[in-house]
Amino acid sequence: LGDPVTNENDKQQQLDRYRVEQGDRLTTDQGVRVEDTDNSLAVGDRGPTLLEDFHFREKVMRFDHERIPERVVHARGSGAYGFFQVHESLEEYTCADFLTDPSLRTPVFVRFSTVAGSRGSADTVRDVRGFATKFYTREGNYDLVGNNIPVFFIQDAVKFPDFVHAVKPEPHNEIPQAQSAHDTFWDFVQLQPETMHMVMWLMSDRALPRSFRMMQGFGVHTFRFVNAEGRGTFVKFHWKPVLGTHSLVWDEVLRIQGNDPDFNRRDLWEAIERGDHPEYELGVQLVPESEEHSFDFDLLDPTKIIPEEDVPVRPIGRLTLDRNPDNFFAETEQIAFCTGNVVPGIDFTNDPLLQGRNFSYLDTQLLRLGGPNFMQIPINRPVAPVHNDQRDGFHQDAIHQSRTSYTKNSISEGCPMSGVLSGRMEGVFRHYTERVEGEKIRRRSPSFEDHYSQAALFWNSMSDWEKRHITEAFLFELGHVERRYIKENVVGHLAHVDGDLAAEVARGLGLPEPQAVRTDHGKASPALSQANAPRESIATRKIAILVADDTDAD
Ligand code: HEM
Repeated sequence: LGDPVTNENDKQQQLDRYRVEQGDRLTTDQGVRVEDTDNSLAVGDRGPTLLEDFHFREKVMRFDHERIPERVVHARGSGAYGFFQVHESLEEYTCADFLTDPSLRTPVFVRFSTVAGSRGSADTVRDVRGFATKFYTREGNYDLVGNNIPVFFIQDAVKFPDFVHAVKPEPHNEIPQAQSAHDTFWDFVQLQPETMHMVMWLMSDRALPRSFRMMQGFGVHTFRFVNAEGRGTFVKFHWKPVLGTHSLVWDEVLRIQGNDPDFNRRDLWEAIERGDHPEYELGVQLVPESEEHSFDFDLLDPTKIIPEEDVPVRPIGRLTLDRNPDNFFAETEQIAFCTGNVVPGIDFTNDPLLQGRNFSYLDTQLLRLGGPNFMQIPINRPVAPVHNDQRDGFHQDAIHQSRTSYTKNSISEGCPMSGVLSGRMEGVFRHYTERVEGEKIRRRSPSFEDHYSQAALFWNSMSDWEKRHITEAFLFELGHVERRYIKENVVGHLAHVDGDLAAEVARGLGLPEPQAVRTDHGKASPALSQANAPRESIATRKIAILVADDTDAD
């Protein structure tokens, strides 16, 4: 699959080998020139079409098979190419090649997405956004598969199918398709209070990003950096847009959905075409292993952030998106991200959500992309060379040159393990050595039990107008729920977050006001509020976009 390469053009050069230009001679897939593509071969002027018309059969057969399954979540997305460059070597923490050589521009492909909607759904809905990055590093592909919200709804991947079934349209009538509230989602919330922190973010304007160019991204889980000596450091990843973080407001969202369902997709495409290349700063929060237990939450719990006041975000590098794909299906649709794709220097933790994700992505792609060779599709190919004895399967692209296909072997000269066997260990992935012991048991750790403190921290960090938008979002969404007890129970959870919020939502829904349960927790965190975004306030932007077709955002 080629030699190792060193800058952002490497992926481009690899892709160039697969480009197919449109010629002026129409042919069949077998390369036979076609005389006429408007009339099928038939008997006489008005007779039946003949089976021997191979051009007709091939053309219609190919059309009949154009659709592949859409992603089971994050079906609607938009992608772009670019490059990533680290500011200074992070060798103290990680041996990852692309994070230790500041002269290196690593090629990337980023796919932004909504979560719940189908492939053809509108861009501007109240939803989480995906922010998935594939780094084509010299040591193999590294995928940072994140979202624009730094926490998740659930703590354990085993709940993911239930969660997604509750979020998606109801099974009997496929309603509602938009992200307007429905009983199944709020039923899941009331029964699973671990959702409360993420639900606060979802009801905020963070769930209505104005542009993919103005949206943060988060790796969510605590991952692990590993340096050349094998020392581990916990790490959380943050993407921060150079343009600042900006949202729409609900009225805009509704109007834009009708006027231009491709609003975010178009914005990204057009900005890149006119040379306004979106940029994002990658930041990390680093926690030494010795401090693993020094927080009042569990670092392995994906419903928790590490407050930036406790562990500042250190900027480490910059991502620039500078080229649109040539073909949506070939690139944006066929790209396959997986949290399990890591390179030497980056490793997992025992976060139970992350562990499940590592299985799920590869598993679903076997179906979505038609078998085990989908990593040979051009967009998924690493620029690092691939050598192994994995063989055959549907759609095998490689013509392997060897008389043997097992490792180790003493017959072929090019045995893939011969490098390691002769002691050449550079760039080898070594799983982090960790001592783990305990009973085999189906039980969530008691350290994952606090579901409200960080939800309260988020609420307390909001400015007055942000709080108003959140309250209005709860009223709108819960206002569409039919079953009264579901609304009451959600309000009951809100009482654990903030008494005033719960009371106002209860009043607005015509429900009895709940007793405020806890109001003394979760100090405000300035880093959480969009009101602290470096550029002008979103309230000003709202007026600009509604009144004057604002185009100055960039
Ligand atoms: C797709 C993020 C949790 C299963 C995606 C995508 C993103 C994402 C960004 C779209 C990738 C693309 O653009 O192609 C996240 C985040 C999570 C999370 C940040 C929590 C922290 C989970 C869990 C599961 C899961 C717990 C399963 C147990 C999937 C599947 C896809 C997907 C099956 C479709 C992949 C494909 O068809 O290629 N996720 N996800 N996700 N996610 Fe997740």
